[in-house]
Amino acid sequence: MKTQFSKLVLASVSTLAIIIVFAFSVPQQKAAAPWTIPAKYKSMKNPIPGKNVDTGKSLYSKYCKTCHGALGKGDSPRSKTLKTNCGDFSSAKFQGQSDGEIYYEAIVGRTEMPNFEKKILSENDRWALINYMRTLKK
Ligand code: HEC
Repeated sequence: MKTQFSKLVLASVSTLAIIIVFAFSVPQQKAAAPWTIPAKYKSMKNPIPGKNVDTGKSLYSKYCKTCHGALGKGDSPRSKTLKTNCGDFSSAKFQGQSDGEIYYEAIVGRTEMPNFEKKILSENDRWALINYMRTLKK
């Protein structure tokens, strides 16, 4: 009786240990750290506020949707495979940034957020993209 009880305890303890080890080995996604935006970008003025949203939308579908999701909520299947959370373009926190700050994050990027300076060459296209992101707010 006593040995059966200790076997049971041993089995439970080892099961628990396996669960704990497994839980810690599953990669956890990091929340994005705050961005450091150079002054040059911070003070940038959008030359075409609210314009060319359709152009922005097609650029978004071509380059951004795979990671950021159709509505910019960062919930695409691909986003789940990334180490850093993609953020949520519909959130008040995101929309509270200036156009220049969003420009820097979207075009210059960092680490897992790709650089688009060589892919999206036209300034008008870049701002169109930002104008489209502005339409994603809740
Ligand atoms: C390979 C996946 C991937 C693609 C493609 C991608 N992004 Fe990102 N993006 C990320 C990740 C990951 C982050 C978070 C990075 C960080 O904070 O270090 C991010 C962050 C951002 C941010 C900052 C979000 C915030 O909360 O302030 C903006 C803006 C952004 N992306 C815009 C774009 C735009 C516009 C495109 C298309 C032109 C694009 N991204 C394409 C992965 C991607």
